[in-house]
Amino acid sequence: MKPMISHPTGPIAGIVAVPGDKSISHRALILGSCAVGETAISGLLEAEDVLATAGAMRRLGADVSRSSEGWQIFGRGVGGFAEPDSVLDMGNSGTGARLVIGLIASHPFTTFFSGDASLSARPMNRVIEPLRRVGATFWSRSGGRLPLAVRGADAPLPIVYTLPVASAQVKSAILLAALNAPGKTTVIEPQPTRDHTEAMLNHFGAEVETEALADGGRAITLVGQPELTGREVVVPGDISSAAFPLVAASLVPGSRVTLRNVGINPLRAGLLETLGDMGAHISVTDRRVQAGEPVADLLIEASPLNGVEVPAGRVPAMIDEFPVLAAAAACANGVTRMHGLAELRVKESDRLAAIASGLAACGVRVEIGEDWLVVHGAGGPPPGGGQVMANMDHRIAMAFLVLGMASRAPVRIDDAEPIATSFPNFQTLMNGLGARTEETPAD
Ligand code: S3P
Repeated sequence: MKPMISHPTGPIAGIVAVPGDKSISHRALILGSCAVGETAISGLLEAEDVLATAGAMRRLGADVSRSSEGWQIFGRGVGGFAEPDSVLDMGNSGTGARLVIGLIASHPFTTFFSGDASLSARPMNRVIEPLRRVGATFWSRSGGRLPLAVRGADAPLPIVYTLPVASAQVKSAILLAALNAPGKTTVIEPQPTRDHTEAMLNHFGAEVETEALADGGRAITLVGQPELTGREVVVPGDISSAAFPLVAASLVPGSRVTLRNVGINPLRAGLLETLGDMGAHISVTDRRVQAGEPVADLLIEASPLNGVEVPAGRVPAMIDEFPVLAAAAACANGVTRMHGLAELRVKESDRLAAIASGLAACGVRVEIGEDWLVVHGAGGPPPGGGQVMANMDHRIAMAFLVLGMASRAPVRIDDAEPIATSFPNFQTLMNGLGARTEETPAD
C-alpha cells in the first residue's frame, strides 16, 4: 500500500506528453505476435498492464524484445502459437486477459489464466459465452471468473454474434479468435465502441469491414485466416491518461497546459465533448493521422465549468473517464447528471460506488442509482479533506488526486500503487506541472 495526499494548488502550467495509449499498446503486442516478420512499435505504454500482455505473448511463443529504439516483435503468424508451459498472469488487466483469451480460443491447446484480486472478481462470461460458440472449452471459477483454463478449438468456427453489452474488449476477443477460423466472422455491436482492433487489423493486412446499421449500431466482419505481415506501429498518447492533467488544468484557476500527441479517436474522445459542453477551454491543434489513428495536441486553459447532462449514448466514448469527470462535476456550477453507467460497476472496481463514496468523503453531494450518478457541483472548490479508498483501481486513485488539487482541503487516497498499471509517471508529470502530491505515512 502506498498512501498518497494531494494538496490544493495554484495554477498549473507546462507542455507535456502523456504515456502511450493502453488499448492500442495491448493490440500492437498481440497483432505483432500474430504477424509474420518484424513489427517495430514506438511509444508503447510501459506500464504493468501492457507488460503483462507482453509476457503472455512471449509465453505463447512470440519473440518480443525491447531495445533503446523501442519494441520489436517477430511474430508466429496467424494460428502459430504454442501451448504455454506456465500460467499466464494478466495482473490487473481486463483488456489483456480478455483479448488473449480470445486469441488462443482458436488454438488447439490448453492455457491457464490468473490475475490479481481485482481482475479475479471481474466477469469473464461475456467472452466465455461467444468463444464457446467458436468451439473453445472453459473451466472457470463460479460466475466465469479467473483463474480459468481454456482448451482452444481444434476446428474453430466463424460466428455471427450480437454483443449483449457495449464492450470493445468482447468485440476484440471475438475478432482475435476469428483470425484463426475459416470464413467470415461478424460481430454486431448495439453501440459503437473503440475501433482500435479493427484499425490495427487493417494496418497488419487483414480484411475487416464495418457497416453502420440503421439502429445506430455497427456490424464488423473479418475474413478469417489472413496473412498478417509485420508493420511499424506508432502508439499515440492515451486520452484516458491525458484526462487527468486535462481536467486538473480546467479546474485550477489560472492554469494553462499543453498535452502533446494525444490520440483523439472519436470513439474515445467523449470527455472532450462533455467538458466542452461544461464550458471548458480546450483547443485541439495540429490534427494528424499516425498509423491509422487520429492524433492532436490539446491546449487547456482553466475556466469555470457548468453542470451538464451526459447522455447514455456517449458513455462508450468516455467509459474510462467518469471518475475524473466526477471530479470536474464536483467543482462545476450546478448539477451534472450521468446516465447509462451500468458498465462502471464491473471495471477494475465498482467505479460507480467508488466515485460516489469518494465524493461524499470530500463533502460533495452526490446521488447514485443502479446505472446513474448525479453530482451537485460546489460552483468552485469543494470542501475536500476526504480519505478515499482506491479499491485497486488506478483511475479512482488518479481522479481523487486531481480533486485534491482543486479542493479547499487536501484529499488522501489509501493506495497509489495501482496507478502503475496505466500511468507510471503520473506523480512526476503532475508535480512537474505544479501539482503537490506526495506519499504520506499510513494511518
Ligand atoms: C478497453 C475497453 C473498455 C475500457 C478498457 C479498455 C479496450 O472496456 O473500459 O479500459 O482496450 O478494449 P470494455 O470493453 O469492457 O467496455
